[in-house]
Amino acid sequence: MKELAGKHIVLGLTGGIACYKSAELCRLLIKAGAVVQVVMTSAAEQFITPITMQALSQRPVALSQWDAREANNMAHINLTRQADACLIAPCSADFIAKLAQGRADDLLSLMCLARPIDKVPLLIAPAMNREMWSHPTTRRHLAQVAQDGAVVLGVGCGEQACGESGDGRMLEPQELLDELIALFQPKVLAGQKVLVTAGPTYEAIDPVRGITNLSSGKMGFAIARAAREAGADVTLVAGPVSLASPYGVQRVNVRSASDMLQAVIQRVDDASIFIATAAVADWRAAQASDQKIKKDGSGQTPQLSFVENPDILATVAQSPRGQSRALFCVGFAAESHDLQANAQAKRLRKGVPLLVGNIGPATFGQDDNALLLVDESGAHELARDDKLTLARKLIANIADRIQARG
Ligand code: CTP
Repeated sequence: MKELAGKHIVLGLTGGIACYKSAELCRLLIKAGAVVQVVMTSAAEQFITPITMQALSQRPVALSQWDAREANNMAHINLTRQADACLIAPCSADFIAKLAQGRADDLLSLMCLARPIDKVPLLIAPAMNREMWSHPTTRRHLAQVAQDGAVVLGVGCGEQACGESGDGRMLEPQELLDELIALFQPKVLAGQKVLVTAGPTYEAIDPVRGITNLSSGKMGFAIARAAREAGADVTLVAGPVSLASPYGVQRVNVRSASDMLQAVIQRVDDASIFIATAAVADWRAAQASDQKIKKDGSGQTPQLSFVENPDILATVAQSPRGQSRALFCVGFAAESHDLQANAQAKRLRKGVPLLVGNIGPATFGQDDNALLLVDESGAHELARDDKLTLARKLIANIADRIQARG
């Protein structure tokens, strides 16, 4: 999916070892369909060459405000007039200080100051040694830059080029790409707190065996990402899946339905929207063995008996908070046939205003899906599409419902 098609991004590089990651970032931006104009400070040129960035961005790199090849000799103005966003990655402590003070003694800082502040958002991806990152001067400058309207992205924590370990690493290229994509999504859930369950659950039979199902978690993870892109504060309670967490989403890993219920109960009082996408196992072994069940050679099979798991969605939806206007609950239904009738019956049984139906075997593990939104007035289809596009449509639909009920 060309997520940044038609977007013109100015990618600024300042001096820092993280410049090596900016080459990959540039490649990802181009692959996502963006037009990328690279601007480098002379310090950045110490870490990566403009030739590399030119080859990756497919455009000459802007380096100096004194470059007479620019027809009007005003590169600092021209660079941002067509831009949809400027991203400085890496953004050094020195450059943050410049931004905070409005200094403009090189092309990049001059360009940042001369950009139309209301039309062209400025994002900065700081990168520096952990002591520099936590220094009060840096903190003060960052606060100032944020107050002046820049989006200050986070930093990673871990090993640093200097050999120390801590906060201050530049975010990974994929995370920066995701942040840029998120920037362009409408903030329809700003101020909302969204709790999502996703993936299968695993119910142990003994220490090495259990029952689970084919849910991949992809739809729930896409919904968590879409909700965060829409400005919400998102917590994702995930069953055992190997998917990477969407950037900026708080993830809680659980295994069984009982663990998932507990994780949800602990957090739901804080949430304003609960979206239950998890394929929770309906039953668990009545008594899981604490030792591996062995064959005894007689050909006899173990006698397993099951008990029903708690219904997490129904428990939440039918609680006082679920019944109040403070929490909007959304359920999912994986069906194999009669989708609309089954989904409508399930919606009433669970006691939720909105239930999203899909055909289980057609979606589990796939990258695309089709959804049927069922509410008290009937059904509305979201046609087959990739899961992230569908998730964004669903989030927009939920936002409309929340706004309509006031
Ligand atoms: N759900 C839940 N806890 C359970 C079972 C289901 O929270 N123990 C939630 C799912 O996350 C989903 C919805 O309820 O949002 C529907 O789940 P599904 O398994 O499709 O429906 P069931 O109620 O189990 O009904 P059936 O298996 O009979 O189709």
